[in-house]
Amino acid sequence: MSKLRSAVRIKTEAEKKSNKKLKSGVRKEPSESPYHCFHDEAELRLFRSRLLSWYDQTKRELPWRTLAVTEKDADVRTYGVWVSEVMLQQTQVATVIDYYNRWMKKWPTVQKLAAASLEEVNQMWSGLGYYSRGRRLHEGAQKVVCDLGGEMPKSAEKLLKQLPGVGRYTAGAVSSIAQGQVTGVVDGNVTRVLCRVRAIGADSSSAHVTDALWKLADALVDPGRPGDFNQALMELGATVCTPKTPRCAQCPVHTHCHAYSKVRLRQDRGSERLLGKLDSTPNSSVADIEDCTSAGGCNLCLSEDWDSELGVQNFPRKPVKKAPRVERTLVCVLRRRCDGGGGDGEIQYLLTQRPSKGLLAGMWELPSMLLEEGVSEKKHRDLLKAEAQRIVGTATESFQYVGEVVHIFSHIHQTYVVYSASVCECVEGQREQKICWLSQSALQEAAISTGVKKIMKLYYEFTGKLQDTENKKRKQSHEAGKDKKAKRAGSAANGGPKQLSLSQFFTTSKPKSS
Ligand code: ADE
Repeated sequence: MSKLRSAVRIKTEAEKKSNKKLKSGVRKEPSESPYHCFHDEAELRLFRSRLLSWYDQTKRELPWRTLAVTEKDADVRTYGVWVSEVMLQQTQVATVIDYYNRWMKKWPTVQKLAAASLEEVNQMWSGLGYYSRGRRLHEGAQKVVCDLGGEMPKSAEKLLKQLPGVGRYTAGAVSSIAQGQVTGVVDGNVTRVLCRVRAIGADSSSAHVTDALWKLADALVDPGRPGDFNQALMELGATVCTPKTPRCAQCPVHTHCHAYSKVRLRQDRGSERLLGKLDSTPNSSVADIEDCTSAGGCNLCLSEDWDSELGVQNFPRKPVKKAPRVERTLVCVLRRRCDGGGGDGEIQYLLTQRPSKGLLAGMWELPSMLLEEGVSEKKHRDLLKAEAQRIVGTATESFQYVGEVVHIFSHIHQTYVVYSASVCECVEGQREQKICWLSQSALQEAAISTGVKKIMKLYYEFTGKLQDTENKKRKQSHEAGKDKKAKRAGSAANGGPKQLSLSQFFTTSKPKSS
């Protein structure tokens, strides 16, 4: 039976639909050109064995890989690999390792994860980004325990169908790595490797290229070691066949790579021209040794001209990315001193909880509001004061501009315009929004996003500078004597340049009306 038929094909309904009709309304069949496939069984076997030998020698020891080979319980193995694959979506391996180890220590089984609260999950995920991923894992774990009798789905098709947030890639990766199912996977790294190896230069995000890549991945996967083979392809894309600095000389499969052959052929022709062995006119067309011979134009070939500066990086081709939305958001670091007014108690910061749906759902953040275009700086304070008063039910004071923080989400270029203020009391009562007051150390442990962490860092630096200024001032005034000190205090009281001391900054005196 051919590899293509034996490999499992997983396709979502959305993929089936998007594949049926392209934008033009005309269904484009993937090219059948052998140039873009592996049509020779001997070559296919050589490709697999070269890639796997390279992987065996160079692979990184990663905790989920160790678990996949040492864990005897199929449910625990599937759960552990599922967690790793979800964490690895859009996140670097180096970042994931620590999160993964802490997660698996706290929730070593799907049952343990199902019993956790979403709050704990968000807290554990804090700083990893794309928070819906953690929420989906949690929902999935609860579904396994409540609806599936505590057993993890046992095939790619079932994982895809039964677990929320599991797409075609994750289903294929988990089932091949944890369950040994012979199915290919296509992620960003695999797309790049396959586009280069088989010279696929049409838009790699288009439906017909995606379809061709999945067929290719299913045909290539090693039937004896599907999980290792898939991880080897990913590893090759991550470490050798990289987007910007591909290291073709170190590539274990460069002899199978059409992009590499094209580069070599052009180099050889250049040398021959220099030596006068070849016609020197730039248009002289000597066909590539092997090239796509698809009649009537091929929908997988390069849609633009070969760019000799790019070399193998001619593949893959992607459409220009949509520019991210630019937003500015006003943020207030609102603090209170947690004592009876003595002035030396712990400082706490106000956090509000985001709605349970949408961006950063359920996460804790600082009081903030999206800035509409054309709002003058003068209005920032009034807007924030009103928002803070709405949340805490009391007036704020000592408003100060802290600075700006830029944070890039995948689709938003966000600038936080940060202010700080104090409140002396928080009126308890009914609010639609959940709030909490946390100390600096509790904040570090809380379910907060990287954006909030960056804002707090700026704020601590800002207060640190205030502290320095205060110390310097104290020293100067000590040297200059009491007269000058009195003068300076007088000028500040008269509306001159104001530099608040740290104790004034964290004032707990009764609020003035705003
Ligand atoms: N990226 C996605 N899955 C991976 C895996 N299993 N190993 C390394 N990088 C990955």
